[in-house]
Amino acid sequence: MEYIINGGNKLRGEIAVYGAKNCALALLGATTLTPDEIILHNCPDIADVANMLKLLSAMGKTVSRDGNTVCIKGELVSTCAPRSIATLLRGSALILGGTVAKYNQIALPLPGGCAIGSRPMDIHFRGLEALGVKVLDAGDMVSCLGKPHGADHTLRFASVGATENLLCACVLADGQSVIRNCAIEPEVAALEQLLIKMGAQLDGVGTDRIVVNGVRSLHGAEFDVIPDRIVAATYLSAIAATLGEGVVSNCNPDHLRAFLQLLQERFDVKVYENKVYLRSDKHPSDYGTIVTAPYPLFPTDMQSLVMSLAACCSGETIICEQLFENRLTHNAEQLNKMGAHITVNGNVATVRGGDLHGANLAAKDLRGGAGLVIAALAASGQSRVGGIEHINRGYVDLAGNLSSLGGNIYLQN
Ligand code: EPZ
Repeated sequence: MEYIINGGNKLRGEIAVYGAKNCALALLGATTLTPDEIILHNCPDIADVANMLKLLSAMGKTVSRDGNTVCIKGELVSTCAPRSIATLLRGSALILGGTVAKYNQIALPLPGGCAIGSRPMDIHFRGLEALGVKVLDAGDMVSCLGKPHGADHTLRFASVGATENLLCACVLADGQSVIRNCAIEPEVAALEQLLIKMGAQLDGVGTDRIVVNGVRSLHGAEFDVIPDRIVAATYLSAIAATLGEGVVSNCNPDHLRAFLQLLQERFDVKVYENKVYLRSDKHPSDYGTIVTAPYPLFPTDMQSLVMSLAACCSGETIICEQLFENRLTHNAEQLNKMGAHITVNGNVATVRGGDLHGANLAAKDLRGGAGLVIAALAASGQSRVGGIEHINRGYVDLAGNLSSLGGNIYLQN
């Protein structure tokens, strides 16, 4: 399957954002901490979430979905994650911490690297070891054994996934834990809020220093998945790239301030409490110099979006990707097929562009695929975008949603 995109339409109208993939996956990981029912509202119906639910179900959980509400309950009957499911998504790693905390053991096949990088898990494993857990890393599989005890541990890098796993690992530990240099992404703060609702004694929500006093058990809770800031940025990028005018609603502008600042400097942008208005009359000369970094700085997940925006500009934009070692080259090559002039040297891309024309494109990862769709909507002529299974991992009906704004994009088998 591929998208057929006939570029040139100005996107206009209002579009609502749905729940964040990277929040939902972390919260689903935390359901391993209790047999009680966890109810998640605004939970996006995307492939990664479906596969995470499949994994939890295969290990014993009872899962159900009613629209955008997902319910998970029951004990795990197995702490061996089936390889066929666990390797479908990287998010499966997020069951590690909760499973070790609750069952003191887990055997988890690991998906390994992906298109954007090698994706090691050393920060997860060193943190679990600091909590007294024995970690056997066999490369394509990790086994953990032992009940976590409290510890004072500093992450060598503010890894989102490692922070999430370690928070889940210490909430049932004997004693107090202080976890330092935690990631402070909104999705991590949401997990911290869910854990508190489940009965965890956790201080420092949203900060890089979290103090947890272990408790004997956690109970059920109900929680709203936060809006997807990357989807919000994707829609805003599509409106900006096509010189359109629109409103992206049901989002939290506070979660994408670094990206919004880039747009506010170049377009007519109005920011409200839970929506953003944007009107774009012409492409800017460039997007300056962008350096990706942990929150609240410019997110790596929005890098491919801004590369596509910059490919529509005649001036020079510099993009430095600091998080993942292979997240620039593929889209640079694809956009150059559309008439852009992008060179990549190490982790720095120099982007020049202008009037893009349609081409046959291939998505290799989730956010890169969204970037290619945006470029194709802005280009003149027809483009084909293959590899949309990557896009479906994190976007709900991207073609349908962009069509609702007037984009000429449809799915072809
Ligand atoms: C999360 O991945 C997101 N995924 C990613 O989104 C996002 O790009 C990333 O955070 C950074 O914001 C989910 O939340 C499911 P990291 P994660 O651990 O947790 C290195 C998307 O498209 N590292 O913060 O894997 C790592 O290689 C995805 O939605 C280690 O070296 O990211 C990378 O260079 C893509 N050792 C950097 O840290 C470790 O043990 C950031 O990784 C862990 C990470």
